[in-house]
Amino acid sequence: MSEKVTTATIRKMKAEGTPITMLTAYDYSMAKILDEAGIDMILVGDSLGNVVLGYDSTLPVTMDDMVHHVKAVCRGASRALVVADMPFMSYQVSLEEALRNAGRFMKETGAKAVKLEGGREIIETIRAIVNAGIPVVGHLGLTPQYVHQLGGYRVQGKDTAAAEKMIDDALALEEAGVFAIVLECVPSPLGRLITEKLKVAATIGIGAGPHCDGQVLVVNDLLGLYPGHTPRFVKKYANLHEQVNGAIKQYIDEVRERSFPGPEHCFPMSDEVLKKLY
Ligand code: KIV
Repeated sequence: MSEKVTTATIRKMKAEGTPITMLTAYDYSMAKILDEAGIDMILVGDSLGNVVLGYDSTLPVTMDDMVHHVKAVCRGASRALVVADMPFMSYQVSLEEALRNAGRFMKETGAKAVKLEGGREIIETIRAIVNAGIPVVGHLGLTPQYVHQLGGYRVQGKDTAAAEKMIDDALALEEAGVFAIVLECVPSPLGRLITEKLKVAATIGIGAGPHCDGQVLVVNDLLGLYPGHTPRFVKKYANLHEQVNGAIKQYIDEVRERSFPGPEHCFPMSDEVLKKLY
């Protein structure tokens, strides 16, 4: 469990049919917990915008926001392979800018790979980043940076043309050198078909069924940090919202009734010193 996860590890896991585990994290403490639990990959997703920064989409997230959080995650992850998500407009403007931003993650943060959303339309960009020696994870299906073009957050690849395009995009990404592809909100049979067609690149599903080579979730969703509706593809493994809310309410009550801090939380002083102060 202590050997560092590398792109070679992920390729080997794909080849051997060993399920790959990935979760998002945005800070040092959570990265440390995931790493100690034995997660294979940590994605510092641009979902940072939604779950940490409070935006209603990922579009406002900047390179500076990402670099700040990727650095913190890398300080907490000693085994897991950390993937930095390239935010909206950090790789779409020009090839040069994409290379500079991907390089910035590698030089400044300690991340070992970057992730970009899109298929054939960004294939030259992906090829250039891979050729610069930077491992790349692709992202197909529901690509949140395209939310306005897609007309909302919905399942992708449901009709023949859309499914064929996604298969073609996946094969193109593999040919361009990505070592993994996130498949988001894709019908399970299509997730399975793409996984079978890719011989080298591992599929990491989020709402793409059980046959992908691995699975990823937003850690805040898995931990149940939000009350109310969660997407169908999320399984809540804990209900931290309720637990944290209960703990905070207890703290407020105890401070108000002066039962916190108790003697065990306080520092004593000698009577002799104290007497002189009065
Ligand atoms: O930004 C993110 O967290 C992601 C995952 C949902 C795959 O891209």
